[in-house]
Amino acid sequence: MISQSLRDVRSYEEEMDRRIADAPRPAFHLSARTGWMNDPNGFSYYNGEYHLFYQYYPFRTEWGPMHWAHAVSKDLLHWRHLPAALAPDMDYDRDGCFSGSAVTLPDGRQLLMYTGVDRRTLPDGSAQDIQTQCIAVSCGTPAAGAACAGSERDTPAAGQEAGAPSSSESAGIGAGAVTDYEKYEGNPVLSGRDLPPGANRNDFRDPKLWRADDGTYYCVAGNRTEDRDGQILLFSSPDAFHWTFVTVLAKNNGRFGRMWECPDFFPLDGKQVLLISPQDMLPKDFEYHNGNGTVCIIGSYDKETHTFTEEANQAIDYGIDFYATQTLLTPDGRRILIAWMQNWDTCNFRSIDWPWFGQMCLPRELSLRDGRLIQQPLRELLALRKDEVRYENVTFTDLLRLDGIEGRRVDLTLSLRPGNEKELYRKFALRFAQDDTWQTSISFRPYESIVKIDRKFSGSRRAIIHQRRCRVRNRGGRIDLRVILDHFSVEIFVNDGEHVLTATLYTDLSARGISFFADGEVTMDVVKFALQDMRQ
Ligand code: FRU
Repeated sequence: MISQSLRDVRSYEEEMDRRIADAPRPAFHLSARTGWMNDPNGFSYYNGEYHLFYQYYPFRTEWGPMHWAHAVSKDLLHWRHLPAALAPDMDYDRDGCFSGSAVTLPDGRQLLMYTGVDRRTLPDGSAQDIQTQCIAVSCGTPAAGAACAGSERDTPAAGQEAGAPSSSESAGIGAGAVTDYEKYEGNPVLSGRDLPPGANRNDFRDPKLWRADDGTYYCVAGNRTEDRDGQILLFSSPDAFHWTFVTVLAKNNGRFGRMWECPDFFPLDGKQVLLISPQDMLPKDFEYHNGNGTVCIIGSYDKETHTFTEEANQAIDYGIDFYATQTLLTPDGRRILIAWMQNWDTCNFRSIDWPWFGQMCLPRELSLRDGRLIQQPLRELLALRKDEVRYENVTFTDLLRLDGIEGRRVDLTLSLRPGNEKELYRKFALRFAQDDTWQTSISFRPYESIVKIDRKFSGSRRAIIHQRRCRVRNRGGRIDLRVILDHFSVEIFVNDGEHVLTATLYTDLSARGISFFADGEVTMDVVKFALQDMRQ
């Protein structure tokens, strides 16, 4: 049964689609349909399409009682919104349907597992969340039209005649598309009583589930211990509805911030990877920075004893706007990561005029190389490339502009090396989203092996972080950069994905310039493509 509040959200979405059709948007990054977006949820391949849900407050561009928005895509680049999937409309989730994930059941239905939030007021007047894990299941099978009893597919909405197109049909949703999810009558399926000793039930969230080869379902969830440290809990279930605690899979022991949010846990290239988003981090060298960060822990996993043995850790992204990762496995076996292309510490950097807030990063293909997580832009992006411009062996010692190298939807590959074998250059910089007033830049100092992103002149009116540095592998002044620009963001893949730096920018789209700078002698190859606008 679809609630009246979810019906109201869906009508509001349709009205806003008409009212804000001309709003400025990224061209191929998914942005909030209307209002607010944070974490990706339920990132999955289901019924021949990729599904991406996200944390959503449709009515304002601020965080509010969380809903799940819903979008589908054939290539992870062209996204089409379906009606919102979940609203906070039950006692156990009345203050929010927080982050979670999706899996396909053997009968063909799609199951969503999410965190229900019930905020209670304590005797001293302060608020305290009770966080539990809940289930919602797609209605019917895709072939049967996927309607819940009482949904707009089988019951005419108020004022709508029987036989008239339903709201989901008028949104261009094909027959058979799954749009409705029914909350399980046995919710919550995991709550405080399922937690091990020392685990806090107020910070217990973001279940990521999967089905193992033997048919058992597992999920990992973020948790905070009573003494404020992060840990990841593992649960199992024979049917995805009845869950029991298995073990504490990983413990922070004071290393990475406090509460660990948004875990993901999967095999990759012969190892096992745990991704987490810790809150309240302290900096460490050039690897981890203050605030909300993202961490990749690489190790091995004993499936019999459920023991995860850590071997190495690293940041996932070294830029500014990145948080809350989630991955899926494609039908052709690629592990793809997506994340919220914002960060809680910087989300007051925004346009106050836009009717939406929040974008997802470009989906990234994951692999391991020499013990490190490697991220490469989704290969489907190659299909959006057009208008190639190529330069080889360009040597320069100062400012440089190259004909045909400009734009705000750009896929730019640079290969740099010292122009003079005897004297290493001191600095290289690439400036983009540039005009006489504005510029965003990425610079490289080979003596220190430091890459720096700087978006100070990118339209921000806030006193927040605008620069960040990371240390890359010393290759004697050689460095490869792949820079993806999409109107209001930049993602920089260094040395074939060994490091990635991501940032949003709000520079006016008229600032389209790209230029190069060298202090010392640099030689470079440049390949530039314009990228198609998916919305045209
Ligand atoms: C991470 C997070 C999650 C939570 C959601 C709420 O960004 O705090 O832990 O489920 O956002 O919107």
